[in-house]
Amino acid sequence: MCGIVGYVGSKDAYPILLGGLSVLEYRGYDSAGIALVNGKGLEIHKDKGKVDHLRSITHDVAGRGCTTGIAHTRWATHGAPSKHNAHPHTDQHDRIALVHNGIIENYSLLKEKMLKEGIKFRSETDTEVLAQLIGKYYEKDLAAAVRRALLEVDGTFGIAVIAHDRPGVLIGARRGSPLVVGVAEGELFLASDASAVVAHTKDVIYLKDNNLIELTPEGFDTTTLDNKKISPEIHTIEWSVDALAKGGFDHFMLKEIFEQPETIYNAMRGRLLVSEGVARLDGLNLVLPELRGIRRLVLVACGTSWHAALVGEYMIEEIAGIPVEVEYASEFRYRNPIIEPDTLIFVISQSGETADTLAALREASYKGATVLGICNVVGSSIARETHGGVYLHAGPEIGVASTKAFTSQLTVLALLTLLLGRMRRISNSDGIAVAKALEAIPKQVRKILRQNDTIREIAKIYAKHNNFLYLGRSYNFPVALEGALKLKEISYVHAEGYPAAEMKHGPIALIDQDMPSVVLAIKDSIYDKVISNIQEVKARGGSVIAVATEGDREIEKHARHVIYIPKIIPMLSPLLSVIPLQLLAYHIAAQRGCEIDQPRNLAKSVTVE
Ligand code: M6R
Repeated sequence: MCGIVGYVGSKDAYPILLGGLSVLEYRGYDSAGIALVNGKGLEIHKDKGKVDHLRSITHDVAGRGCTTGIAHTRWATHGAPSKHNAHPHTDQHDRIALVHNGIIENYSLLKEKMLKEGIKFRSETDTEVLAQLIGKYYEKDLAAAVRRALLEVDGTFGIAVIAHDRPGVLIGARRGSPLVVGVAEGELFLASDASAVVAHTKDVIYLKDNNLIELTPEGFDTTTLDNKKISPEIHTIEWSVDALAKGGFDHFMLKEIFEQPETIYNAMRGRLLVSEGVARLDGLNLVLPELRGIRRLVLVACGTSWHAALVGEYMIEEIAGIPVEVEYASEFRYRNPIIEPDTLIFVISQSGETADTLAALREASYKGATVLGICNVVGSSIARETHGGVYLHAGPEIGVASTKAFTSQLTVLALLTLLLGRMRRISNSDGIAVAKALEAIPKQVRKILRQNDTIREIAKIYAKHNNFLYLGRSYNFPVALEGALKLKEISYVHAEGYPAAEMKHGPIALIDQDMPSVVLAIKDSIYDKVISNIQEVKARGGSVIAVATEGDREIEKHARHVIYIPKIIPMLSPLLSVIPLQLLAYHIAAQRGCEIDQPRNLAKSVTVE
């Protein structure tokens, strides 16, 4: 997703804006740019390429004392990555400059109209249309011009706007694309993500949809797009700027893998009541009576969050006895899902901004459903629009490949399972057993992480292979999907995840000595079946890397390599079995020299359809 940074205050805006862009690099982008009000007018610098490149072509701008500016990292949607398509965009007379996240859906109609009016365009982007429109309406009042232009556009936007003759004025507005305002004494910051402002202030406003904010060094003025005054709430960011540093690790992904003992603990802290064998999820308090009466649950998500939802389905059906369906948000939003009064919807999203998940949430709400959220990013659109929910408290996840958010999602789903299970059909003693097992997870994850060097050696052996099969059954089938996704997204190696028994219905045809299989062979009720599946792979010359339970010596006869995880109840085994797969994907990608934290073509949060 593109990144926005804006500043107004008394300091030199340039290093603040460039620093903010560097923090947002993790979200994925292809070009970068900056606009400053420099006393004579607008000064724009932009190009295709990285923030470092922008820095190298603008180093003489530092120290000039421009105190108002905006900056952007673009992830191309309309128009190829290029200098002229990069943001900021201006109107034809360079009177206003705009950076924009989102999509202006009616841009071609608006553009056609403006072309007829003689307006000259310089890019192929939808964003320039909005810049031209604001420029057309701009006289003396920048906020009024932005408001008027936004009334004409359809689509989504998070924008920051400055004008050539308005030093000390910065306008932000949003619909469907996040904007955060950092509030400090005598200066204000605007960003698409709190991580870009946390180095300067922890006091933030999460701008709401259809709101516009005018920032000056003296303060802010917030209105709706139809100009009704509002008083936004100021929140405090709970994590520190250290979360944005690699902390001695080579990559954010590795750091986040190693953070999991703490992040899993944070997800259950204050929520797991071991001695009572229950969970307490305060964010769901309002719907507790509804939870007791529900007859069906639908879990909606994308990508890794969808894999977490699949594990949730296995957990909730087995322990709480409630039928669960798991839906891809992108499918759910466009079909006509059946939502009955006793159906409860959970949307799961790390970022809380995924466009399809947000749209699914809105569709379900429109149909009258109670929609609850499981999100990581505080104040995100999904967190705000749901009727209640649970935060992961995992801190910012910077690596594009989701790791710690996944295990935190599993933790929250396990807590939810415990809550629902105890309301319905599991006894106090069974509840205590699950709670105790959950409590032990952080320590067990730490133990698995100690095998990092062994897993790196295994990765070296397999790094040159171009095809992998990931197999698992029951609770570990979704883990197979997740392991395959991790490998393909960061190492560009083809990997398929399958329920182990499905292999013989097709994928078995692919197996030979060049296609290794990663098999989740955890000691559970279907362990023997998984061993049979391993035999089938071996019989076709395929190598097997097994993830198995400590103490299982039998597996060593069947698999070429074994990575052990501690003994755990089946329901919670994904929390452990996924860790070796994250490390394996990481080390294979590292061996192949891939750009692990910012894989090609991927964005950290997918805010477009
Ligand atoms: O922020 P979300 O959890 O809604 O994101 C969903 C997917 O885009 C995300 O999980 C994606 O698949 C990751 N790149 C996986 O590592």
